[in-house]
Amino acid sequence: MKICVLPGDGIGPEIMEQALRVLEALRGDDFNFEVETALIGGSAVDATGTPYPEATSKAAKAADAILLGAVGGPKWDTLPREQRPERGLLAIRKELNLFANLRPAILYPELANASTLKPEVVAGLDILIVRELTGDIYFGQPRGVREENGERVGFNTMVYSESEIRRIGKVAFEAARKRGKRLCSVDKMNVLEATQLWRDVMIEISADYPDVELSHMLVDNAAMQLVRAPKQFDVMVTGNMFGDILSDEASMLTGSIGMLPSASLDANNKGLYEPSHGSAPDIAGKGLANPLATILSAAMMLRYTFNLEAKALRIENAVKKVLAAGYRTGDIYEAGTRQVGTKEMGDAVLAAL
Ligand code: IPM
Ligand code: MG
Repeated sequence: MKICVLPGDGIGPEIMEQALRVLEALRGDDFNFEVETALIGGSAVDATGTPYPEATSKAAKAADAILLGAVGGPKWDTLPREQRPERGLLAIRKELNLFANLRPAILYPELANASTLKPEVVAGLDILIVRELTGDIYFGQPRGVREENGERVGFNTMVYSESEIRRIGKVAFEAARKRGKRLCSVDKMNVLEATQLWRDVMIEISADYPDVELSHMLVDNAAMQLVRAPKQFDVMVTGNMFGDILSDEASMLTGSIGMLPSASLDANNKGLYEPSHGSAPDIAGKGLANPLATILSAAMMLRYTFNLEAKALRIENAVKKVLAAGYRTGDIYEAGTRQVGTKEMGDAVLAAL
């Protein structure tokens, strides 16, 4: 099994180190893997002048799965758009056709107080956001800034084809079928034609999934319902831009975005796995970052790409144990728990494994 490792920028390398220790501990006959490390994001810009160098593209294509830390930082924010670290992320998603982004938001009972919402609103929360990742306004043409009537006009295009909607819809219905059998599709059909098509296609697909209850919600209402009564949701499916926003919102229901893994899959379950959080330049290199989202991303990789469900569960149970034992990085710390750094958190997970 070939794993392409892309530590990236900021806290990326630190959290990746801990995830790799966890994977190493699980090495065995059914999980015999090699790692190829490559550059992405700002560190790739510094070394090669581009955020997604040819060598990285080659390594990513040759791998069965990709494990990514995080990209970006203030150092690169003023570069031309083509050279910004985020471009590396968008390029790898597009090139490898990783259209299905799965972002679970699970509240671990021990962290109920870390959420800014009342514990009774979030206790037991377990949502899966399925975000389309290679279409929509992120990639739509035309795009740009042009002169019109003596002023600058910025424009982007929201566009979805029926086949793009259908393939993400199927992923979402399948996921709902394996969970609580409820799927909420989020759109803005009262204003945007592209999302009227989204809704129509979701309704068409639902005929093949009579066991899954499909509902629809406008995105503004969905944003409101997520903080009002988040437990009403099981699986949510939405486009690239709405999914970007709603998944950040959902992450904070759980107390810390530092806890949330994600998977971005192609049609054959080749996947890119990364924490939902960013590169946290303010704490980079200090050994303070929470490695759990990356460790949990490695668990998702074992589940979705390598079909090693038992090993994925071992990692997830180890993380639960560590939280129950009171270990906390700064982002989830509260009085009465034990504050640890990145490496100590990794040590604790290894011990629990
Ligand atoms: C995410 C991020 C990216 C996105 C950025 C960094 C391009 O916010 O993965 O959610 O918008 O998709
Ligand atoms: Mg985002």
